[in-house]
Amino acid sequence: MTGDILKYLREKEYVSGEVLARKLKISRVAVWKQIQKLKDMGYKITSDQNLGYCLVSHPDLLIPQEVQRGLSTTYIGKKIYYFPELESTNIAAKEKALHRAEGMSEGTLIITERQSAGKGRLGREWFSPAGGIWLSIILYPQLSPSYISRITLMTAVAAVKAIEICTQIEPQIKWPNDILINEKKVCGILTEMSAELDIINWVVVGIGVNVNIDHQRFPEDIQANTISLKEVSGEEVLRVKLAQTFLQEFEKYYEKLKRKEFSSILKEWKLYSHTLGKKIRVDMGERIITGEAIDINEEGALILKKEDGELIKIISGTILK
Ligand code: BTN
Repeated sequence: MTGDILKYLREKEYVSGEVLARKLKISRVAVWKQIQKLKDMGYKITSDQNLGYCLVSHPDLLIPQEVQRGLSTTYIGKKIYYFPELESTNIAAKEKALHRAEGMSEGTLIITERQSAGKGRLGREWFSPAGGIWLSIILYPQLSPSYISRITLMTAVAAVKAIEICTQIEPQIKWPNDILINEKKVCGILTEMSAELDIINWVVVGIGVNVNIDHQRFPEDIQANTISLKEVSGEEVLRVKLAQTFLQEFEKYYEKLKRKEFSSILKEWKLYSHTLGKKIRVDMGERIITGEAIDINEEGALILKKEDGELIKIISGTILK
């Protein structure tokens, strides 16, 4: 209902309560209640006794009405589940992803203002207070499960592009999924999937961006390695615009991936690479390998050249400092 009221308020400078009541087939008291609800959400609405209601400004909330307004995607974000607070958008998305047979569709989004138990890679916690973008996308790609690393890499390209378009800041990508600015993490990606031998049942791509978060709010143990866009740009960044831009870029690159055009995505990934050409240590779980990061291959794996010249292909691992 609030969405309908907003639609009419956006069409004209002033809309009377009477007109709204007639169009929506509700009483004027019900209109007034919906207006109060919008005001509580952060919409600034003035009222004039003769002219009616006037929408003055809207909040930078990631609610579907705002995110979908002007969103130019075909299917990414066409259906949005919004929660003011959630444990983790990835957890919620994974539950929903199971319901494909009941109509859950590719590109459905779960989005929240803050997470109480945000998940990072390798079971780590992900600090997700108000002011960031925390969202997950449900996908049903007809690709082999080996594509999962490529999905993460293409998501990283979509994220850096969106950040660049909205802030003119050029971030870097640390393989496989960290987006950095000034060597500090500004965004993380958590890709999860359910698959059988050669088919993917579902993929959930979760992305967290530290947008308008003041540095002192980050927990002490991550303060030195974490940064927000607001800190770098010196001003608040419009989260709705950034989320929309990311979704548009995401759909563009995901379409390329489905057309098996990963090499062109990889070319772009390399332009933003923080990793290639560096001597690094990679934690592979059971062992740590040192070498020079010389390439990312067509599967999205990192190619490391050891000191003795041996080339190692790493599909999954964490680059240590
Ligand atoms: C990482 O770098 O470790 C990955 C962080 C991913 C965080 C995002 S925030 C939205 C989505 N929901 C989660 O619980 N995690 C991902």
